[in-house]
Amino acid sequence: MKRESWASRSGFIFAAIGSAVGLANIVRFPHLVGQHGGAAFVLVYIASLFVVGIPVFFSEVLLGRRARSNPYGTFKKLGRSKLWSSAGKLPVFTAFFVSAFYCALAGWILGYLGEALVGTLGDLHSTEAAAALFAQRSGSATWCLVWHGTFALGCTGVLLLGLRNGIERGCKWMLPLMVILLLALVVRGLTLPSALPALEYLFAPKWEELTAAGVLMALGQSFFTLSIGQGTMITYGSYLKKGESLFKTCVTVALADTLISLLAAIGVYTVVFSSGHSPEGGLGLIFQTIPVVLNSLPFGWLIAIIFFVLVTLAAVTSEISAMEPVVAYLVDEWKWSRRKAVLATGAGIFAVGVPCALSTNLLGQVSAWGQNILELSDAFATGLLIPIGALLGILLLGWGQRRKLQLDATDLGTRTATQTRIVRGYLMTAIRYVGPAIIVVIFLTNVLM
Ligand code: PHE
Repeated sequence: MKRESWASRSGFIFAAIGSAVGLANIVRFPHLVGQHGGAAFVLVYIASLFVVGIPVFFSEVLLGRRARSNPYGTFKKLGRSKLWSSAGKLPVFTAFFVSAFYCALAGWILGYLGEALVGTLGDLHSTEAAAALFAQRSGSATWCLVWHGTFALGCTGVLLLGLRNGIERGCKWMLPLMVILLLALVVRGLTLPSALPALEYLFAPKWEELTAAGVLMALGQSFFTLSIGQGTMITYGSYLKKGESLFKTCVTVALADTLISLLAAIGVYTVVFSSGHSPEGGLGLIFQTIPVVLNSLPFGWLIAIIFFVLVTLAAVTSEISAMEPVVAYLVDEWKWSRRKAVLATGAGIFAVGVPCALSTNLLGQVSAWGQNILELSDAFATGLLIPIGALLGILLLGWGQRRKLQLDATDLGTRTATQTRIVRGYLMTAIRYVGPAIIVVIFLTNVLM
């Protein structure tokens, strides 16, 4: 069967940015910036993008394009020994695991979009009321399961439409809409009197607040947000036609993703500062602070809807990209039809995500190290599975292939010999030495700390 491919280069770019931009940009990034020293964190984050994020991203897309296969097939085809094929199973597993817990989390967002649409959020005028609503909703197993299931169903539906009609077309309208909604939020935020203090809080570098843990967070964030380490970019790369300049494309995706994170941070904090709320972050910010703050603004109900549509779209374009490696694996290796593969993946992530959806209600008692099942799953994926997956990808490209690592001018998209030398030198060093070394350090610190 002929392998599908993107209809155009821009199709890949839209899909890759859609994958990259997700809950990590809108929920996690603003929180991290606020907590770990403002611009100091942003600078470390950008450095980690260039030192490891982009090289791993580039490696995965290139591997996928060379092998034209799912992550397991890619490791099997390109790896020098049998061991590599076994290693290739890990990214497929990680993709499945991430899709499952991400779906449960995104279910809450979708549920809150529902609440915004029926007007429940409009009644929240105090932090206590918002906290009570959140406790009630997340404490209801039915509510969590219904929205988890609805989100899984929606993403399965997009994937059933296929690569070009589902993922590519979907991202081509969802991403621009997301950017427009985000800009609307940012413009609203910047026209509030609180804009200046918020920007100062966010972007004044506070180096004394940046700890070793903050640096690790920046590295982890650059992995999760670029959707690397779990086969997504290998799979998306496998649908690319030969002969496109990969490096430029990868940098474009990474920078667009970063820009969106920064805009999200500006939008979120300017709005939050307008009411003098404390800028504590994470999920509380999204589900409790923002709805209350918005209610104190003119047309706050509308901004709330815009905000939750924005986050839902971001989550959909990420979730489908987390599911696709599993679908591709079933199609390539088990020779299933795409339809059967998508349906099985959708059912599978729903089932495996159920304990996460129940982590704040029926299974609320189950915890370890003070974290519930959803938080543990997130930590397990971002702290362990994803760094190992990223390491395997970069090692396969740098050292493990049957043929020697070569990066030609087309891979790099460079025009002159000097450019080629510089970019190749940078990527070779990052892929072979610096990237693996840093990932090992992150990994060990996560495991030992
Ligand atoms: N990059 C997505 C985000 O920022 C999450 C994601 C991770 C999606 C891994 C696919 C694969 O939310």
